[in-house]
Amino acid sequence: MKGNNKAIPAANAFAGKVVLVTGGASGIGRAAALAFGRAGASVVIADVSVDGGHATAAMIVENGGKALFVQANVTRAQDVEILLDKTIYHYGRLDCAVNCAGQQGANARLDEIAEDDFDRLMGVNVKGVWLSMKYQLRQMAKQGGGAIVNLSSSFGLVGAPSQAAYAASKHAVAGLTRSAAAEYAKDGIRVNALCPGAVRTPMLARVLEGEAALEKKLRAAHPMNRFAEPQEIASAILWLCSDQSSFVTGHQLTADGGFTAI
Ligand SMILES: NC(=O)c1ccc[n+]([C@@H]2O[C@H](COP(=O)([O-])OP(=O)(O)OC[C@H]3O[C@@H](n4cnc5c(N)ncnc54)[C@H](O)[C@@H]3O)[C@@H](O)[C@H]2O)c1
Repeated sequence: MKGNNKAIPAANAFAGKVVLVTGGASGIGRAAALAFGRAGASVVIADVSVDGGHATAAMIVENGGKALFVQANVTRAQDVEILLDKTIYHYGRLDCAVNCAGQQGANARLDEIAEDDFDRLMGVNVKGVWLSMKYQLRQMAKQGGGAIVNLSSSFGLVGAPSQAAYAASKHAVAGLTRSAAAEYAKDGIRVNALCPGAVRTPMLARVLEGEAALEKKLRAAHPMNRFAEPQEIASAILWLCSDQSSFVTGHQLTADGGFTAI
């Protein structure tokens, strides 16, 4: 079966809930924001991309949902603090947060990775997730509960030839996720990481641009012999945020077509 675009929850599954999606202007974040909107949530989309962020919010509103775009760079504490303030000002609470804002590295062997590239990846993929959770957890703890999903990767579980810094940043997401899950369980907050295989998004297109051989090799490394559609990853995100996963915390869930099964 091709990517299952119909795997969405009941229309009211998240009615009355407020959901924040960082990186919601594109790819997996956009698919998750749209799925939450369809499921009845009020959705706050945060991203550095103004056009993309507004476009995602407009798609939700056109579908009859509620959405707000806030421009924010997750590597800046002030931006993230203001993002949370605006979320609470507009919608009064925060029930779920999905930290999708992330970047890929340039394809290079470890000894050829530029120092700037390493710092950039750690800044967005690690510090960005930490800062996002810092303010999300404070708000959720005040309210007495919530659910957070951090986007890791199958490269948060296994090594990534020519993407060592990316793999290191995604392994770090596991450390943040597990630590936060243990620290905030008593506050009623669940924190999980999702580890997708390759997903057909603008990020993957950038990685594979002009790399036909790499594309073939990467596809074949997934036993399902295809890439995921963003909606398939959104389905797993919604499950991790829903009461259906009420005893799941500190987990790294794979949605990778079997990539890490072999
Ligand atoms: N696409 C894949 O194959 C794949 C696989 C596994 C994990 N992931 C992870 O999933 C997440 C989403 O990836 P995607 O494929 O949808 O990528 P994408 O490039 O399509 O979307 C990422 C979004 O994050 C935003 N962003 C980047 N830096 C930011 C910053 N500093 N502050 C705020 N927003 C910022 C971008 O503007 C963009 O809208 C990433 O964390 C990525 O590492 C992707």
